[in-house]
Amino acid sequence: MKAAVFYYSQSGQALKAAESFCGLMSAVFKEIIPLQKYPFPWSRKDFFQAFPESRLGLPPSGIEPIDFSDIEDADIAVVAGQSWFLSPSLPLQSFFLDEGVRAYLNGRKVIFINACRNMWLMTSRRIKEYLSQAGATLVGHIVLQDRASNLVSAVTIIRWLLHGKKEATSILPPAGVRVEDLEGASRFGEETMRVFESGDLSGLQPALLEKGAIKYKPSILAIEKTGHRIFGFWAKFIRKKGEFGEERRQGRLSLFYYYLLFVLFCLSPLVQLFFWITYPLRRVQYNKLIDCNV
Ligand SMILES: Cc1cc2nc3c(=O)[nH]c(=O)nc-3n(C[C@H](O)[C@H](O)[C@H](O)COP(=O)(O)O)c2cc1C
Repeated sequence: MKAAVFYYSQSGQALKAAESFCGLMSAVFKEIIPLQKYPFPWSRKDFFQAFPESRLGLPPSGIEPIDFSDIEDADIAVVAGQSWFLSPSLPLQSFFLDEGVRAYLNGRKVIFINACRNMWLMTSRRIKEYLSQAGATLVGHIVLQDRASNLVSAVTIIRWLLHGKKEATSILPPAGVRVEDLEGASRFGEETMRVFESGDLSGLQPALLEKGAIKYKPSILAIEKTGHRIFGFWAKFIRKKGEFGEERRQGRLSLFYYYLLFVLFCLSPLVQLFFWITYPLRRVQYNKLIDCNV
């Protein structure tokens, strides 16, 4: 089985996940290189600058051309990346909007590996839309996420993304997806090969889910769905003032920063508490979310 692997990763986390996944396959890796560069670690200003365009699906640049000549015969395409602001990261969106990429993906089966903090549902929906516009089919969806609680991972990811500090402290775990979870992605690759040999990849996702490809956290899904809607209003509000990089929108971006701090550290814990108290009434609704995830 030959895989064409497209990846974007700032710290190497999503790349590591893809490498583990492809362990036993013949795989050709193609890096997604956006023309607009995103720094790592981020300054606060650059970090929030990426918000409106991530949420609205308006990446500020395309990508460097990809040479497809050695992957025309690939049996499967794997895309490895991450969520930014409850959406596919801007480099991933540039990738899916690229005409050459769309032509390549047309008619192909695709597996998406998301190595993120813990909010990935709306990213997967957007990626399914991009794939269907390209004439491709999502046959597998794997999510590797931070195991820490929502509150703790919010602190550790800020330390990591804005200050470059990934390591644990005496009170905090290390930021990001655990090394053993990244390495453990090999079992999803092995399962994919097994299902591929049976000749029908349409049954892949249930097999991957059996192996733990997605861990559902219902209260986080609830926060994400509401947050995504509210982010939409904010993103449009900020874009009215200016496009990517324009100084004029800085005031509104700063307002969004304080809003996000309030949501992450004040509102989310209360929403989670309310969610669990009312969960018995919502169980069916959330099981539907789980069922429809490819
Ligand atoms: C601008 C930005 C926004 C992010 N937003 C989210 C998010 O909405 N949901 C999430 O689970 N993780 C989010 N993350 C974390 C990333 O998905 C990812 O785990 C992290 O950036 C490391 O990815 P890497 O492979 O590029 O190093 C965000 C990261 C960045 C840089």
